[in-house]
Amino acid sequence: MKLNDHASGRHFLQIPGPSPVPDRILRAISLPTIDHRGPEFGALGLQVLAGLQRVFQTQHPVIIYPASGTGAWEAALANTLSPGDAVLMFETGHFASLWHKLALRFGLAPEFLALPGTDAAGLPNGWRRGVQAGLIEERLRADAGHQIRAVCVVHNETSTGVTSDIAAVRRAVDAARHPALLMVDTISGLACADYRHDAWGVDVSISGSQKGLMLPPGISFNALSPKAIAASRTARLPKAYWAWDEIIESNKGGYWPSTPNTNLLYGLAESLQMLHEEGLGAVFARHLRWAEGVRAAVRAWGLETQCVDSAVHSPVLTGVVLPAGIDADRVRRTIHERFDLSLGTGLGKIRGRMFRIGHLGDSNDLTLLATLAGCEMGLKLSGVVLAGSGVQVAMDLFAAQPQRAGAPVS
Ligand SMILES: Cc1ncc(COP(=O)(O)O)c(C=O)c1O
Repeated sequence: MKLNDHASGRHFLQIPGPSPVPDRILRAISLPTIDHRGPEFGALGLQVLAGLQRVFQTQHPVIIYPASGTGAWEAALANTLSPGDAVLMFETGHFASLWHKLALRFGLAPEFLALPGTDAAGLPNGWRRGVQAGLIEERLRADAGHQIRAVCVVHNETSTGVTSDIAAVRRAVDAARHPALLMVDTISGLACADYRHDAWGVDVSISGSQKGLMLPPGISFNALSPKAIAASRTARLPKAYWAWDEIIESNKGGYWPSTPNTNLLYGLAESLQMLHEEGLGAVFARHLRWAEGVRAAVRAWGLETQCVDSAVHSPVLTGVVLPAGIDADRVRRTIHERFDLSLGTGLGKIRGRMFRIGHLGDSNDLTLLATLAGCEMGLKLSGVVLAGSGVQVAMDLFAAQPQRAGAPVS
């Protein structure tokens, strides 16, 4: 559906999720709904569960919920923790903050570690960098009685464009010899950025359908470890609909205890097939290359990216900070009205200061160049003085560096 009746061509959905849904997936979703207790469904269920294990890079069960990512956040906590449990979380941005709020509402005792202060641009330091594994290690070492039951971090912070080093967080927990569970939100990281549930020793990985998997919103995931499953047997937070045990049992035959989201599972099967055909290594390389082009454009404009640590720039999205006095949401509205291009708004503490360009999923070089052109025109129309043409720099970069196949991921 067009927002503007008179607009021709496709709308540019360049927010960092929901991402554009490929026609192949839309067609798969449109197939007739089948009996979710029939034999055909069991085969579909087993197929998507096995395919998800490959994408999470795990040998262990993956749970599918007919819910947005927030439901899977809640499920991760409800299955593994007991009322009043201490949980260590790290403030990387708006989504880390929402997960922290959810933990509070559950009656947990979350401690929210953060980098202090704001920088010269008046932006919170912690919202421009990744999870600081050293601070987590220090805090866990101080917890000699092992009161902290879980460490919860966001892999790809969608509000800022920062992808944290999860292997470093695992090493920090191990270095402190601490038994806490490690829970990671990779809602916008999965199937865009490299993510290794087993190799990084993650106990619960949380993800959703509407980002790298290129599906509409509506299903989400918990990937589990044996330690998380063991914890779920003694954890005392109330859980019924979200409980892993009955789902794992039913999933053995490819079924679910309650009615699954059949048509989105058709779409998921198609998405997993597309990712398999391309190869995960190539998918990750494609996102890294686009991100490099978009960051080069932002630099050419003479603007700053929200992320200031070059080690943790997100391959999924780029946050663009606007000069003081320019309302980023007004710029975004202009771009939407004039060029039918949707960009991500600044969220929480950085609202109005920045906008986000999504470069994930079903995209290509020309889509991104058009997106950058829309931004460049909109910035100029909004009175932002640009140092140069970001579009030109991104064109040069994309033309000079053909898309390479990525390293295979087993
Ligand atoms: C990193 C991250 N975590 C959690 C969420 C919340 O997920 P949902 O809006 O699907 O409930 C989002 C949504 O964009 C997200 O990007």
